[in-house]
Amino acid sequence: MTAFDTWVHLVYLACATCFVIGLHLMNAPATARRGNRLSAAGMAAAVATTAVVLVVHRQITAVAAAVLAVGVLAGTVAGLVTARRVRMTAMPQLVSLFNAVGGGAAALIALGEVVRHGDLTGRLPVQITVTAVLDVLIGGVTFTGSLVASGKLAGLVPGRPIAVPGGRLLVVLLGAATAGLAALVVAGRAEIAALTGIAAAALIVGVLMTLPIGGADMPVVISLLNAFTGTAVAMAGFVLESSLLIIAGALVGAAGAILTKLMADAMNRPIGAIVAGGFGTGDDTPGAAVSGDGTVREITVDDAAIQLAYAGKVVIVPGYGLAAAQAQHEVVALAQALTERGVEVGYGIHPVAGRMPGHMNVLLAEANAPYPELKDLEEINPEFARTDVVLVVGANDVTNPAARRPGNPVSGMPILDVDRARSVIVVKRSLGHGYAGIDNELYTDPKTAMLFADAKAGLAALIAGLHAYAG
Ligand code: TAP
Repeated sequence: MTAFDTWVHLVYLACATCFVIGLHLMNAPATARRGNRLSAAGMAAAVATTAVVLVVHRQITAVAAAVLAVGVLAGTVAGLVTARRVRMTAMPQLVSLFNAVGGGAAALIALGEVVRHGDLTGRLPVQITVTAVLDVLIGGVTFTGSLVASGKLAGLVPGRPIAVPGGRLLVVLLGAATAGLAALVVAGRAEIAALTGIAAAALIVGVLMTLPIGGADMPVVISLLNAFTGTAVAMAGFVLESSLLIIAGALVGAAGAILTKLMADAMNRPIGAIVAGGFGTGDDTPGAAVSGDGTVREITVDDAAIQLAYAGKVVIVPGYGLAAAQAQHEVVALAQALTERGVEVGYGIHPVAGRMPGHMNVLLAEANAPYPELKDLEEINPEFARTDVVLVVGANDVTNPAARRPGNPVSGMPILDVDRARSVIVVKRSLGHGYAGIDNELYTDPKTAMLFADAKAGLAALIAGLHAYAG
């Protein structure tokens, strides 16, 4: 190893250290931005170093360098424009698109390396063949699976579970064919053709795996595909013998796997059953969860403001509607106005409220909500019994008592027990469904009152009402 190579390894090690420390900093909202910047700086240094290595080792022709430069430029512009323009509510489908790109790129790396090695040596070492097979397989599944997931979240593909007739049998058959083709690759026979076959099978399996999943299970799938992307990248690292890619891929894979487990636990869904499809989708009949006499009580802004002003303890439960209306500043202003009146205020945050992990925490942090007031499901649920008013803002599925019964799309999902409070006020525009597509029994509970309004306008009116009527 030359002195140059040693320096390159040291730089890569420093870059990998940036990823690890950056990830650690993302643990808390106060340091998350710094963590993001540090990780991005590590990645920029890694890309620049790789470019230098290619030039110094004369591994790149002028044409290839020009193609790479155009690719980097196009990727940078597309990334910058998308990141600046994307709305918080569209973040999950963007993450899913990134997963698709990452998985697809990792699979292409393996295919490219096998072609290159085949030309050079004629016989591939086993550590390359095994990891190349895994890379193409996982990367291919991630590519199409993530595209379908992104399409579902963006509304381009129907979000409900779509059963493919004979889909599971086809997956089993494709799995068996893949095992045969993988054996061929490892045995050194027709590697390129066999790997192409594996790629085709993986692309089909990605679609078949994601289509039957829907409703409330989608966030878990996105996170699982994120873990797949990381694993595929780590495999690409083995194929290329790049320690940096192995570390970066392992970090993404492990983080995605941990998040998947946390979310599946939060929704009380076994991961295997989610992937098998259809689990927890119940009878999928809209309206199947309705109970009671179906009477919905409406409340005026003034009455709601007075009820809040004279409460001893209020818990605010934000949901997707808060994000859609971008009403985070109004909700925090209302909480502050109540606190100034001596009302004890807290926020109940469900782990899958909104459309991405930590969605509510990010929004409320942006509006400077006091961090100690943000309470997770386990912490807030015992408090509802001694809460005077729960103010539900744009949340739906995460408060649906139907989750306590079997046979509907949210069955088994732990919910915020808002119906155990003395009274509930729900701010949303209509009786419209949430992500899971079913009626919410909370709305017909006699202690619930509906304030039909856009979250931003409704909260602003509540603040005005609070000042006007309660002094
Ligand atoms: P949802 O159950 O999706 O309900 C959101 C409600 O917000 C809707 O019923 C809608 O009712 C209301 N809304 C929409 N725009 C509004 C606006 N401008 N002002 C006021 N209200 C508005 O939300 P949730 O309770 O947060 O539950 C999250 C759901 O999304 C779960 O089913 C979860 O599994 C799923 N999901 C979560 C994630 C993650 S990781 N968080 C990712 C993907 C999916 P109106 O139309 O009547 O106003």
